[in-house]
Amino acid sequence: MAQESDIRNIADASKPNAGRIYDFLLGGNHNFEIDRQAAQQVIQILPGMPQMVRLVRWFLGEATRRLCDEGFKKFLDFASGLPTVDHIHQVALKGTKVIYSDIDPVTVAYAHDIIGDNPNIRYVQCNAGKPEELLDSDVVEELFGKDRKVAIGFNGIAYFLSDETMEHSLEVLYNWADKGSKIFISDIDMAEISDGARKMEGLYKQLGQPIFWRTKKRLSELVKKWKVTDPGYQAMEKWVDIDWGVSDEVKKGFGATSGYGVILEK
Ligand SMILES: C[S@@+](CC[C@H](N)C(=O)[O-])C[C@H]1O[C@@H](n2cnc3c(N)ncnc32)[C@H](O)[C@@H]1O
Repeated sequence: MAQESDIRNIADASKPNAGRIYDFLLGGNHNFEIDRQAAQQVIQILPGMPQMVRLVRWFLGEATRRLCDEGFKKFLDFASGLPTVDHIHQVALKGTKVIYSDIDPVTVAYAHDIIGDNPNIRYVQCNAGKPEELLDSDVVEELFGKDRKVAIGFNGIAYFLSDETMEHSLEVLYNWADKGSKIFISDIDMAEISDGARKMEGLYKQLGQPIFWRTKKRLSELVKKWKVTDPGYQAMEKWVDIDWGVSDEVKKGFGATSGYGVILEK
């Protein structure tokens, strides 16, 4: 478990943090007691949450493997969280170059410790709602050279960005990337916002992390010029071919039809 002394200069261990709650739900150990208590509140609202976050990470793994099979050797990842528990560089082919990023300075600092001096990996602070901050920085050219045909990770972040911000990010990334680049995205298809979903929204708002629910149809409108590749918008459990062990009753109680993922191409 994380010790307060590890990060006392950068983290406030008296306040729960969305990234560390996510780490706990994922089975990681970079979290404080205060995060674990908040995670228990999340689980009370949605008992399937630990399984849901694992599905999100498994989709990331599946997308990474597919894109490596297609020959991608450079990955640019947004809202990465901690680079543990089957993250991109752990499932990609050896020698794959990865630039991770996250808005949370604590996550970035921890990530530097975890990665060490791996020459193929960088981890920088960036708001996924303003990808231009990262694209315009030196780090991209330093690791990728002039090559802009890359695989882009935008996983597990769509519900933390407003429609307007998503539209902006996807457009900036489209304009920056070379033809043939691909981006993988996951979101939750929230047709009707249930009491559970409202409660979750309230809890995350208190943490300073607003949630923006939307339907799959709405996301498909926001991606604009990006082309959908096969098999299209598909439930995450289908992508990884697994029964994620959450009853229909629990899913219905939360109101989401499913969490889904898609890989898009320029
Ligand atoms: C649900 S995790 C996603 C982790 C990872 N991408 C995955 O697929 O497993 C969410 C992460 O998004 C980060 N985050 C939240 N809002 C963000 C933003 N606007 N820009 C970048 N990162 C953000 C949080 O700090 C947290 O680490």
